[in-house]
Amino acid sequence: MSREILDEEIEVKDVDIVVSKSNVDGDITYANQIFVKLSGYVQSELLDKPHSILRHPDMPSVIFKFLWQELKAGNDVFAFVKNLTKDGKYYWTLANVRVTKNPDGSLRNYVSTRRKMSEKAKKTIIPLYKALLEKEKSDGADASWQLLNDILVKNGASMQTFNDLMKKIQN
Ligand SMILES: Cc1cc2nc3c(=O)[nH]c(=O)nc-3n(C[C@H](O)[C@H](O)[C@H](O)COP(=O)(O)O)c2cc1C
Repeated sequence: MSREILDEEIEVKDVDIVVSKSNVDGDITYANQIFVKLSGYVQSELLDKPHSILRHPDMPSVIFKFLWQELKAGNDVFAFVKNLTKDGKYYWTLANVRVTKNPDGSLRNYVSTRRKMSEKAKKTIIPLYKALLEKEKSDGADASWQLLNDILVKNGASMQTFNDLMKKIQN
């Protein structure tokens, strides 16, 4: 979907807990009131649509590649996400995406609980995502993945400790 991208941030409040659920494909099956409000859509425009309806062009693909890799492996993920609203504005959150299971062990759904991203985290994450996106555009997805790995290692982390590092960056 092409729409004008505005350099206008929408405030997420300290108390906001922005929740959505998805099926195995990432389609939205539930959205709470604040999720709907921030997105600028009405609920019926969101339900059954892919979460990528909110995808912002500033987001590096590698973050979503990592997210899906972890979810498919049954692991929960913490990731900073810049989302695009219906009218072209944006908002940042730290998303905790969890895998939920049925009693028989089969996948029930994915649940994302997002909170306001700290100003401190923006100082680290915005330049990081910019570098990853530039790498993706110049040298491709694999090079961007490698760059993320290298940066994590340089910070004493790894893909395995990604969540811990994101929580540390937030606080
Ligand atoms: C529960 C859940 C919540 C998600 N929330 C978002 C979100 O808020 N914004 C977003 O851009 N992608 C979100 N995604 C990831 C999307 O499914 C998708 O991978 C991403 O938008 C990239 O889309 P693309 O691969 O079509 O470019 C979420 C995925 C899941 C499973």
